[in-house]
This record gives sequence, structure tokens and C-alpha cells, in this order.
Amino acid sequence: MEQMKRSSNCGALTKADAGKTVTLNGWVNRKRDHGGISFVNLRDRYGTTQVVVDADAQEALKAVVAELKNEYVIAVEGTVRARPDTMVNPDMATGTIEVVANRVEILTRCELLPFQIDDETDAKEELRLKYRYLDLRSGGMQRRIKLRNDVTFAIREWMQGEGFYEIETPTFIKSTPEGARDYLVPSRLYPGKFYALPQSPQLYKQILMVSGFDKYFQIARCYRDEDARGDRQPEFTQLDIEMSFVGRDDVLSMIEKLFGYVFRKTMNVQLPPTFKRLSYDQALELYGTDKPDLRFGMQLQDFSPWVEGSGFQAFKDALTNGEAERQASLAKGVQSQGGGVKALVVPGKADYSRKQIDELEAAARIYRAKGMAWMKVNAAGGLEGGASKFFADNAAAVITGLGAKPGDLILMVADAKRRIANIALGAVRSKLGKDLGLYDPANHAKDSAARFEFAWIVDFPMFEFNEEENKWDTAHHMFTWPQEQYQATMETDPGSVKGDLYDLVLNGFELASGSIRIHDPELQKRVFRIVGFDPVEAEKKFGFLTEAFKYGAPPHGGIAPGLDRLVMLMAGETSIKEVIAFPKNSFAVSPMDECPNEVEQKQLDELHLSIRYPDK
Ligand code: AMO
Repeated sequence: MEQMKRSSNCGALTKADAGKTVTLNGWVNRKRDHGGISFVNLRDRYGTTQVVVDADAQEALKAVVAELKNEYVIAVEGTVRARPDTMVNPDMATGTIEVVANRVEILTRCELLPFQIDDETDAKEELRLKYRYLDLRSGGMQRRIKLRNDVTFAIREWMQGEGFYEIETPTFIKSTPEGARDYLVPSRLYPGKFYALPQSPQLYKQILMVSGFDKYFQIARCYRDEDARGDRQPEFTQLDIEMSFVGRDDVLSMIEKLFGYVFRKTMNVQLPPTFKRLSYDQALELYGTDKPDLRFGMQLQDFSPWVEGSGFQAFKDALTNGEAERQASLAKGVQSQGGGVKALVVPGKADYSRKQIDELEAAARIYRAKGMAWMKVNAAGGLEGGASKFFADNAAAVITGLGAKPGDLILMVADAKRRIANIALGAVRSKLGKDLGLYDPANHAKDSAARFEFAWIVDFPMFEFNEEENKWDTAHHMFTWPQEQYQATMETDPGSVKGDLYDLVLNGFELASGSIRIHDPELQKRVFRIVGFDPVEAEKKFGFLTEAFKYGAPPHGGIAPGLDRLVMLMAGETSIKEVIAFPKNSFAVSPMDECPNEVEQKQLDELHLSIRYPDK
């Protein structure tokens, strides 16, 4: 083997190397035979090189080449030869040359492949995960894993340049309520006690601020026992960040600069210097979601001005009932929005069939809409079909008011809870975005920043009313700073309080979440009290944090972008599995190594555990 060690990789040779004798090592990507000449595409991480075995090659060499199959690992010694101009392959980095083999050695053979290794495989996901090592050989996975490497490197470069320290925090921590279910690790030394795997380094990073570290970051593994979805995994990675003596705008601007650097460095994409900002209320009113996809417009519009003059009783009822509910809540001291009628104008889609409209309505119903009304603007500029009969008297005003044109489709959802009307129609907007390809990457130049529509969502409500338990909960976590102007009336009107809380949204995904934190123990106690968090319980769960805050805590805040989601969106994918080397499937299982698995009785005994299987 020693003499067959590679002198070059499979992506490096050019015309300038013509005449050189080289040794390449790699995998057989494809083999073709053409009138006695064999062409072997040899592949490694760096690229592919065409190896040629000429018709007049020695018989022994031909015999070895005849044996080659896809994915055999081989060593080739040969001479670099410039290809004739007609044979140049512009799609290959090494397309101007080929290597004429004079010696080929098989290093290892490959059994029958469970699926073909292509640039992008169309094998089923379960098979891809079972043979992940093969899947990872595909061009697409190789590019995405490289992108992830480039992104983490660029992040570290920028953060270090700005004076952030990278500090590791424990992955065996105390179980504290953080939203999702914890993964637990039983303690051998302390029967009945457990470590929890962190859902995020939240409490530790705040404590690091108390310790004076000022600017912290960590590329941190987080664990949450929640159902897997396209953008969720039980273990995932955050770029976790915390800073002292900062306000919200400092954190937002720091992320804008960091992302600007990362996108420029890794993809040569120039992002805008600042990202759009929307308040939570605006996001809900205009897009029906707190993670709007801004790659297309089609905003929700308020339809209520035309309800009164119409004959549409269902719409009138939604507003009247909404007002009655609002008054009833007010009597309990809870502010609420009342009813709402919202509309969406879909340009040029008056030709949608009943079936297509029914499918859109089904999307609205998933989000608790009782139904979805529709009508069309005809060529004469009047309304027709569906609910149009109710607007005979004010059709012109409706069309002008909504800015609708002949050939447009108008969709409407009314509900006594304005939030439901917004969210349900927002779901319809998202579905239309997908169905109509409104954000199809093909509509955008490949490397253009328009592929990446960032937006900050700010001014989230601090508390939300839990109707089931008839009490207030915090909308995010309990350490969020209630904005100054609401602090005096926090107890009397929790529903109006906005938290200093922000999300970064990219192309309809929540990419990052963060907040300015409470650093004043008294304010923290008030928040605990409002959500009915028992002081004894609070002490037991978070005592170490509130204790730390007694000893001079600086004002601080932070944020945590999900790294998997970031790389997924940069790569134009819709599942984070495409950017994780060894992800779990949607059942939280790794088909390759069959984890989770059963363990030996001896291991259970050492951990003082016995298993109670669920009833069938
Ligand atoms: P949050 O829980 O919103 O905030 O998480 C921050 C970001 O982490 C990513 N993320 C996930 N990615 C993949 N799989 C999951 N299961 C998953 N869950 C979350 C998302 C999300 O926006 N400690 C706070 C941050 C802070 O306040 O500083 C936190 O963890 O991209």
C-alpha cells in the first residue's frame, strides 16, 4: 500500500499538471466501457477525476479494471493527460484532464448497494438513515455537511473577533421546567435521583453573566423530548449567546452583523445590513402567524368595514359575539381582542375550482376556523360566486377597499376570536405560498439575498391567559424582562404587558429566540407570583439562579439561533435531517445503530431501576 498512497486528491488536477505521474485514492463512482477503453470516475471528498484505461493497456491492468464495481475503494497510479477540447467536461472541476492509468489496486470491495449513490438519492428516508454512511457519500450530503462546517467556523471566527468567550456548560444538569419534557439520566450513586440533559444552556449562561464573563457563546447541544417534525429533532444544536449591559437593540444588531458575515463568507450572499422588524401584533394581523414567510406579499386584510353594510349574518354574528366575549373578559379584568373578519386577495386565481377552494378551507379548519367564505372578481369588475350575494349593495366598495382586480379570488374567515380568524387565514396564505410556488427558489436568482427573507418579531406578550386553568402563564420563559412601561401595571393588567422578547424569523421558520432577562430578584418574584408559581416551588426549582442574582447581577440578555435550522435554510432544505450527519427519524430512533435499545439487567440493577412496561 505504501507506494500507492495518494499524491493528489480527486478534485485537484488541472491542465497545468499534464504529464505528471500521480497516485489517486478513492471510490469508484461510475465505470463505463467504450470500445475497449474503460473510463472510471474516481471520487473522494474533494471531487471526481476521470481515470482512463486505454485499449492497449497491459492485460493484468485490464483484468483488475474489469473487476471494478461501484464504490470499490481503489488506488490508481497514472499520468495526467489534457483532454482534447471536444472532450472537456465543464461541469467537473477536473474536466480538462484525465488520468491514464498504468496501475490500479483494489483496496476494498463493496457488496451490493442498498441504493445507488448519486448527487441526491431518491431512496426512502428510513433506508438512507439505516445506511447513513452511504447516504453521506452523496454529493448533496457532502456539500451540506461542508456548509455546516463552514458556517460553524465562520461563527467562531466572528464571535472571537468580537471578544466573545466560548464557554462549555454542563450537559448533566438539574431538571428544571423549560417548556418541553426533559431527557433524564439516572444516577448510579444516588438511587432515585436523576440528571437532566439540558433543553438549552439558559440558566448557566445567565449565571455566567453574574460571574462577569460579559460576552459568552457556545455551539451547544440541546435535548428535548418532544415529537420530531421537519424542523425539530430530539437533540439539536444552538448557537447560544448571552451578553451583559445590553438592551434589545444591541442583541439584534449583533446578530445582524454576525449573520451578514456568515452568509457573505460561506455563500457569498450579501444580506441587508438590518432586518425588517414587525411587532407580534402586526405579524398576526398581516400574516396570521408569528413566523411569517416574507418571500411573498399577500397580506391579510381587515374585512370588518364591509360587514355592517352587507347581508352576511355569519360575519355580523362573529363581530357581535366577539364584542360580547370581550366585555365578559373585561369584567374579569382580562383584555381581549373581540371578533374579527379577515380577507385574503389571491391575485389572478378566480379560476380556482370548488375542489381547490375546499382544500384551502380545510387548511383554515385545522386552525379552528368554522369555515372560509369566498367570492370572485369577474371580468366586469363585479363580485360573483360564493358569498358574493351578500355584498350586492357594497360590492364596489369591497373591491376598491381590498385593492382587488378582475380575475382575483377573495377568501374570508370570520370568528368571534380575532386571533382564530388571523391564524386560520394565515394557514391558508402559507398553503397558497406553497401551492402557487410563490417562494419557489426558481423565482429568485440562485445566490440572491431575496432567497433569505429575515424578520425580527418583537414586542411579544409577556403573559397569556390559560383558559383551562383560569390563570396567567408566561408566554415564553419566566426570566424575560417585562418592558419598562408596563411594569407598574403588571399585576392589574397582565394581558397588556409586552416582554422584551424577540424572535428571528427566516422564510417562515423560527430561527432564533431570545430576550432581555430579569436581573432584579424583586421583579422576578413578582413575575413568579403573577403566574401563580409557588415561592417554595420556585426556590426548589430555580433557587440557585435567584440566589446568584442576590450578589450583583448585571443587566443582561441573549439569544439562541438554532444551528440546524440555519444551515437547513441556507442549503434550501425543509428538513433539518438534511444537515445533521446522524439524525434520528420521526420516531426518535436511529435506524443505523438502533438506538434507543434495551440494556442489560446488570446495568439496570446498578442504576436501581426496574422497568414498568406500559399496558398493551
Ligand atoms: P428556544 O426554545 O426558542 O429558546 O430555542 C431557540 C432556537 O433553537 C431551535 N430549536 C430547535 N431546533 C431543532 N430541534 C428542536 N427540537 C428545537 N427546539 C428549538 C430553534 C429555536 O428558535 N434558551 C432560549 C434562548 C434564549 O432565550 O436565549 C431557547 O432555548 O431555531
